[in-house]
Amino acid sequence: MISAKVYSAQPFEFKSDAIAPDKSISHRSAMFALLAEGESRIENFLRAEDTLNTLKIVGHLGADIVDEGTVITVRSNGIQESPEILDCGNSGTGMRLFCGLLSSAEGHFVLTGDEYLKRRPMKRVTHPLRNIGAKLDGRNNGDLAPLSIRGASLKAFDYESKIASAQVKSAMILAALRSDGVCTFREPELSRDHTERMLKGMGARVEVNGLETKVWPLEKPLSPLNIRVPADPSSAFFFAVAAAIIPGSSAVIEGVTLNPTRIEAFKVLERMGADISYTLTDERYEPIGTITVNHAPLKAVSVEENIAWLIDELPALSIAMACAEGKSTVKNAEELRVKESDRIKTVVDNLNLCGIETEEYPDGYAVIGGELKNACVNSFGDHRIAMSFLIGGLKCGMEVEDIECINTSFPNFFDLLGMCTKVER
Ligand code: S3P
Repeated sequence: MISAKVYSAQPFEFKSDAIAPDKSISHRSAMFALLAEGESRIENFLRAEDTLNTLKIVGHLGADIVDEGTVITVRSNGIQESPEILDCGNSGTGMRLFCGLLSSAEGHFVLTGDEYLKRRPMKRVTHPLRNIGAKLDGRNNGDLAPLSIRGASLKAFDYESKIASAQVKSAMILAALRSDGVCTFREPELSRDHTERMLKGMGARVEVNGLETKVWPLEKPLSPLNIRVPADPSSAFFFAVAAAIIPGSSAVIEGVTLNPTRIEAFKVLERMGADISYTLTDERYEPIGTITVNHAPLKAVSVEENIAWLIDELPALSIAMACAEGKSTVKNAEELRVKESDRIKTVVDNLNLCGIETEEYPDGYAVIGGELKNACVNSFGDHRIAMSFLIGGLKCGMEVEDIECINTSFPNFFDLLGMCTKVER
């Protein structure tokens, strides 16, 4: 098990256009290319374990993939049956979206993942897909991977999801594209909307009206994608927190998606007192721009709304909360319990090890701001926990054990962290 030690930082000026490319958009680029006729061109694809696993699966499903370095081209040959077991590694997004895509493909497919993914709930997609005719199974009545899929014809649906999850929404939209009629999907809160934006850009008929999405089945293959994947705001956010907690520091993050469903954590950090500005520089499938963060003293905040828009950033936000004055609370965030780790427990336990008082609730936690202390914490195999506590270490020094998981989403994290302080691995 590899660990890393980070030393407390002097004031720094961080500026980068090399934050890891967006994970959600990279997964989708590779997968959606399977539905297109012609060659999709993907620039700045995230070369991290999760998304490279997705790309490999797309290859197993018959696509011709040419990796030219900065650009990857994907030419679909239809979705073909594969002799391989399709290994999604650590990625819930990979597994759940492939369920939606493969449910209507001709053939038999087996999806698996690592020890963490095999413990995560899949019935949120397998059950609604079964209800429209998909032949899907797995352990625990289709809830746990490995999953097997026998492609079938799917019926049009009108489905109301109880959870605000872009993974569920995307799986159902992908199923809808190859169903026998117009489908409607509703969610309780808007979740990230990359699938809708990208599929519309490729020519699919997808209409979004508030929390309701209507999808028309494809009459012909989609047009190929021509995309440059922007930087991932969830990865960028670690450096936003870094600048916010170290007096005299700043972070300038370039080429990042400014999609409103993805930058809510920055808005919360602003509410805590950080000085943040956003500059739009480009628009392609998504608004793209620069986010600038300057340190200012932080005060406590209560986070109870738009949880789906900041679900991945809550661990890093909890570090900002630990450095703020007063008691911060996170509620309505039970989804945190079924991420790469139980993030309510891993955040609370690790903050306690760092001398920070917390309260744990079934759907969230409270963090009483104080003095973060040097400690040795574990990532529990969760990339966002590992990176959050390394950022916390900028304040007081920190050792984080089991850091290999960072490669699932942000392979150059340590290069960038090294621009802020001294790091040992
Ligand atoms: C993702 C959606 C989110 C997020 C995950 C990526 C996606 O999950 O946590 O890291 O790409 O659709 P849910 O929307 O299922 O909560």
